[in-house]
Amino acid sequence: MTLQDKIIKEFDIALKTLSNKKSGTEREYPTTDKSPELSDDEKKLSSQLMRVNLAGEVAAQALYRGQAFVCKDQNVRDHLVHAGDEETDHLIWCKKRLDELGGKQSILNPIWYAGSFAIGAFFGSLGEGKSLGFVEETEKQVVKHLEKHLDRVSENDVDTIAILKTMRQDEDDHANEASENGSEELSGTTKKIMGYVAKLMTSTSAHI
Ligand SMILES: [Fe+2]
Ligand SMILES: [Fe+2]
Repeated sequence: MTLQDKIIKEFDIALKTLSNKKSGTEREYPTTDKSPELSDDEKKLSSQLMRVNLAGEVAAQALYRGQAFVCKDQNVRDHLVHAGDEETDHLIWCKKRLDELGGKQSILNPIWYAGSFAIGAFFGSLGEGKSLGFVEETEKQVVKHLEKHLDRVSENDVDTIAILKTMRQDEDDHANEASENGSEELSGTTKKIMGYVAKLMTSTSAHI
């Protein structure tokens, strides 16, 4: 594939992702159908959490695509693309749940996609070890973030809880797979900056 073809393909994937038309790994929507009727406050809280998670999954998808775009090792590349497809599953679930709760997605999602693709390509260009180190650290931070959401969500919202728990398991697997594939640990400063960027993204996506 020529560079031009690769770029066109990435634009296509970006547009499909942002219009919620990209398919992932076709896994089933992990809800229980046992959610009791939720109060307005419970719905409002869950929809705010899922709106933030949707933005996060847009970013996760773009990070993986950016890393895969510059990756030279075919095995690592396949790993990145597969993990990215699982992020698409998360994105589909978050969007579906957000719709069920009557919420709206952040209008900043295209900006998160573009920024995250660039960040992913940057880390990818540092070589496979650093690129996988970036995956491992990102996923570990996402697991912590999802745990906070699991603490906050109403225990009545069993459907949202089921989605959050499935995502937490996948993110944990993504971190472990990156480590098994030879991730190199990032510096403390880099990890801190990543944490700040994630915080900026989650706090603005909750409102805009
Ligand atoms: Fe995810
Ligand atoms: Fe992940």
